[in-house]
Amino acid sequence: MAPNKFLFFIALLLSLEIHSIYGVTDAKDAAALQSLKDSWRNTPPSWAKSSDPCQDWEGVTCNNARVTALGLSTVSLEGILIGDIGGLTELTSLDFSFNKGLTGSLSPRLGDLQKLNVLILAGCSFTGNIPDELGNLADLSFLALNSNNFSGSIPPSLGKLSKLYWLDLADNQLTGSIPVSTSTTPGLDLLKNAKHFHFNKNQLSGSISAQLFSSDMELIHVLFDGNQLTGTIPDTLGSVQTLEVLNLAHNNFTGPIPDLSLMNSLNYVDLSNNSFDPSEAPIWFSTLPSLITLVMEFGSLEGRFPEKLFSCSQIQQVKLRNNTFNGTLSIGDSFSSQLQLVDLENNQITSATLSSSYTNTLILVGNPVCTALPNTSYCQPQQQSTKPYSTSLVQCGGKSCPADQKLSPQNCECAYPYEGTMYFRAPSFRDLSNVTLFHSLEMSLWVQLNLTPDSVYLQNLFFNTDDYLQVQLALFPSPRKNFNESEVERIGLELSNQTYKPPKEFGPYYFIASPYVFH
Ligand SMILES: *[C@@H]1O[C@H](CO)[C@@H](O)[C@H](O)[C@H]1NC(C)=O
Ligand SMILES: *[C@@H]1O[C@H](CO)[C@@H](O)[C@H](O)[C@H]1NC(C)=O
Ligand SMILES: *[C@@H]1O[C@H](CO)[C@@H](O)[C@H](O)[C@H]1NC(C)=O
Ligand SMILES: *[C@@H]1O[C@H](CO)[C@@H](O)[C@H](O)[C@H]1NC(C)=O
Ligand SMILES: *[C@@H]1O[C@H](CO)[C@@H](O)[C@H](O)[C@H]1NC(C)=O
Ligand SMILES: *[C@@H]1O[C@H](CO)[C@@H](O)[C@H](O)[C@H]1NC(C)=O
Ligand SMILES: *[C@@H]1O[C@H](CO)[C@@H](O)[C@H](O)[C@H]1NC(C)=O
Ligand SMILES: *[C@@H]1O[C@H](CO)[C@@H](O)[C@H](O)[C@H]1NC(C)=O
Ligand SMILES: *[C@@H]1O[C@H](CO)[C@@H](O)[C@H](O)[C@H]1NC(C)=O
Repeated sequence: MAPNKFLFFIALLLSLEIHSIYGVTDAKDAAALQSLKDSWRNTPPSWAKSSDPCQDWEGVTCNNARVTALGLSTVSLEGILIGDIGGLTELTSLDFSFNKGLTGSLSPRLGDLQKLNVLILAGCSFTGNIPDELGNLADLSFLALNSNNFSGSIPPSLGKLSKLYWLDLADNQLTGSIPVSTSTTPGLDLLKNAKHFHFNKNQLSGSISAQLFSSDMELIHVLFDGNQLTGTIPDTLGSVQTLEVLNLAHNNFTGPIPDLSLMNSLNYVDLSNNSFDPSEAPIWFSTLPSLITLVMEFGSLEGRFPEKLFSCSQIQQVKLRNNTFNGTLSIGDSFSSQLQLVDLENNQITSATLSSSYTNTLILVGNPVCTALPNTSYCQPQQQSTKPYSTSLVQCGGKSCPADQKLSPQNCECAYPYEGTMYFRAPSFRDLSNVTLFHSLEMSLWVQLNLTPDSVYLQNLFFNTDDYLQVQLALFPSPRKNFNESEVERIGLELSNQTYKPPKEFGPYYFIASPYVFH
């Protein structure tokens, strides 16, 4: 035998040997997964065919025979999450997102997963308290528990997660106040690496402690809208200079409007539906260099409207209906070229001086000026001027599909798309008919999710009651008619762990998948 052939033969033997010793899943991990499997319905078919998870189970990733990742997004899993999960001590990433059939409370043994980096349970139906033990996950950087049915309060122990940069607890039924540290307990003020505090759409109450915010934080998105928070907004919020999106709408904050004048990166702010002290427009309305969208509807703003606001270089949308601005509204010649919408419906404006070059939307319905001049364009009720965008299927010539399938815009074939709803929590635009913009959304989806060109179908676009832009999404497989389990798990993960990034105009988003039926 030639020496190189001989070496090859030895190498082959060695690799077979290694395979038989290490290829088999670690016995404890295999047993833990087996118990999880026994407690669930709809595990992937591959789980029934083999007893070696590391080799054969869809959604299980291993390293040296130990289970390091579980990715089971959107596979219609049903059942509860039993304590045996805590045995998978080498897990670094766990994604069970968008399995509406996952119920019950979370096992405290999740806190045993000491190496966990990413924990995503978004869009399931978990109930009960968020376990304190999650605070033991010292390596955790990404925690998404949004869109479940968690109740109880936010555990102060989450403040121990010093590596956390994404904390999404939105859209649950959490109560109590936002915890800050004391001499004996941790609190969320300790999360100095966090970029995202998404606590919107819960029932959080009490006031925000001044201690929650400090100038050494790196927050970019603070979303507290849709809670029952009260009291004065602490001055310390104004010291978080990294902030880009601030949404405190639909709470019951009182006291002065917060001073945001140092927030040089702030591009979206919504303070609607609170109970701030009546006041004139704060100076920062006209001085924030990055401001794109300013919203404060049903507010207590009064006095003359600060026309300087219109010349902020980035400003696109000003939404201030139901305040009590009075006197003359003036849009001079120096307004920003970006300005698209000025909505001052239901204020007390008595006259308007407008540059003839401002041709975008201005709404003054419900102001005294419209009693005097009812026929001016800004006094007309806004008719839905243009239809919202949806992906065109005209090239398919009205072809139809069986009820469980949809027409792919890519090739006009019927197929089983991966579907769900995207919620954009702070888009910087209002116009839903802008083809360029939505084409860029489609393209970003197929490019980043590694799908074939034009395989994205968008429809049913509208602003919902939370003022989030809702978009129904269908992603089509190609060349086959359906996605397999591993593709669905991958797409689900990339949408739930924010690997996918929309064009910047769309701002922060979350995604909830519909169940995917495998064929
Ligand atoms: C879970 O929350 C959703 C949305 O808030 C609600 O519609 C549903 O009834 C809740 N389910 C349970 C079991 O509480
Ligand atoms: C908000 O607070 C005000 C003043 O404290 C109170 O009158 C009002 O009822 C509260 N509104 C809500 C929706 O809780
Ligand atoms: C905002 O406040 C107005 C006036 O109180 C009320 O009609 C409207 O429903 C509120 N919107 C939300 C989302 O709370
Ligand atoms: C506008 O409102 C302010 C504050 O409520 C008031 O002091 C002022 O007199 C009003 N001006 C006019 C012209 O009505
Ligand atoms: C909004 O303003 C209009 C006109 O001033 C008023 O009739 C209406 O009650 C206000 N709506 C709310 C919910 O405050
Ligand atoms: C407004 O337009 C209507 C119909 O075009 C007309 O009858 C009415 O006289 C106009 N009113 C004023 C104040 O110009
Ligand atoms: C459509 O959106 C693009 C991208 O944001 C923007 O550049 C363009 O001006 C918009 N077009 C219209 C007609 O608003
Ligand atoms: C799923 O599809 C991908 C991409 O088409 C393919 O690489 C993979 O082998 C398939 N997995 C299974 C289990 O069929
Ligand atoms: C999200 O998942 C992808 C795998 O699809 C991975 O490459 C990426 O690192 C993950 N990102 C986070 C933040 O976990």
